[in-house]
Amino acid sequence: MKLPVLILMGALVASGVQAQPAQISDKGLMVDGKPFLVLGGEVGNSSVSDPKQMGPVFDKAKAIGLNTLVVPVEWDQIEPVEGQFDFGVADALIAEAKARDLKLVILWFGAWKNSMSTYAPAWVKKDSMRFTRARSAEGVAQDILTPFDDDLLKADVKAFSAFMAHLKQADPTGVVIMVQIENEIGMLPSARDHSDLATKQFMVTRDTEERFQARSYARFVEAMAMAGKAQYDLPMYVNAALNRPGKLPGEYPSAGPLPHLFDIWKGVAPSLDMLSPDIYFPDFVERMKPYAFKGNPLFIPEAHYAGDAVASANAFYAIGELDAIGFSPFSIENLPDGDPLISAYAVLDSLAPLILAQRGKDTMRGLKAPINYDGVTDTTPQVFEMGGYRFTAAFIDPWTAKDKQVPGNHGALIIQTGKDEFIVAGSGVTLTFSDTGQERVGMEQVVEGKYENGEFVPGKWLNGDQTHQGRHLRLLPDKWGVQRLKLYKYN
Ligand code: DGJ
Repeated sequence: MKLPVLILMGALVASGVQAQPAQISDKGLMVDGKPFLVLGGEVGNSSVSDPKQMGPVFDKAKAIGLNTLVVPVEWDQIEPVEGQFDFGVADALIAEAKARDLKLVILWFGAWKNSMSTYAPAWVKKDSMRFTRARSAEGVAQDILTPFDDDLLKADVKAFSAFMAHLKQADPTGVVIMVQIENEIGMLPSARDHSDLATKQFMVTRDTEERFQARSYARFVEAMAMAGKAQYDLPMYVNAALNRPGKLPGEYPSAGPLPHLFDIWKGVAPSLDMLSPDIYFPDFVERMKPYAFKGNPLFIPEAHYAGDAVASANAFYAIGELDAIGFSPFSIENLPDGDPLISAYAVLDSLAPLILAQRGKDTMRGLKAPINYDGVTDTTPQVFEMGGYRFTAAFIDPWTAKDKQVPGNHGALIIQTGKDEFIVAGSGVTLTFSDTGQERVGMEQVVEGKYENGEFVPGKWLNGDQTHQGRHLRLLPDKWGVQRLKLYKYN
């Protein structure tokens, strides 16, 4: 950071003026007033719950090259006794992140974490008279608190508001850029809660059980978002545990922010900035698409377990094709040393200014062979047009033995940077070209290089065998790299 900026921020903090909080705009996620791309990772649920042991997790995040760590804060740690707040762990998270120039996305593990209510403080969990439990269709009490209970809503809202108010004063430089409310909300093992509180209301609804339950969750979350934002107006979202094909609500966590319930979640919880998918299934490309629409920028807080070799390609597709504002594999502190994600993120980080300038334009594409739910990759070459050229992207590397490559792990993005000029970044994708009109197309020049401070820094000129004598641009399958391509037309 340049000295005058530092002095200005120091002066702001000293004068008690808050740095500009992060926000979602039509340019995506804005941090410190500028578009920001979250190259993130989410930590394991319990990995940063002890300030004495969180340092190495942050060191690892820095070593990987993340710019953002996604971390939980727990209601039970924050309010162990009703009305008595302890923000020690949250403060330590902010200090550790700030010391390493990392941003944080905070996960509020409150009334629900993966359907269950295990992060509610003991004074909530143990008082079933005051805080009603959800019940299955058979009437069996669950380790799940019911969203139909206004006492629970009041208690969670009070704690979350106190946390957001604390954050506003404890984080004047804006280390925390987004907040997730609860985690993977969804009713189990029935489509809806069958407590008396819920059933009384269900009798007078025409909704299906799942839609009825979704309204209740969304109403709860809306109250949380409004109260939290009233204290400190940061971007807020909820995340979804996606449903397995063929399963019924209740077999999967029912009523979460799933595509078939978007109308309810968007309508009842308008204060949320995003509904976000946690994606662990192979059919990643298809699963993320529904979450990228106007008014809902794509953010993937949990993308596979860290170390899954397909993650980098999915990140390139999400960012290049769907304008994702961020990507974040789960259990990031366990990423194996030398994992390809490290070089993939380094490429994305260097390209970030260029990528972020493309939002809302048709000058960027993401390329990835889709994989279906059963793990079968569709390697059919993909054809698209950009800048008056027709491109064909192939995902099987032509010069690598078939049994030595995994086409599903290949991915790329392409950005038009001039009339006949493109930046292509990725791994394992080969591009060929033709004209959208009648002319022939040749390669003027291909240069391998890197991006630094928003500028292309040329390296080796690629020609001859490396471009198949002018026939293709090839991104090597064993590394994540950048090439600048210039094309021309002739007759
Ligand atoms: C999804 C949850 O959101 C995470 O907190 C974690 O429990 C992972 N599942 C573990 O698979």
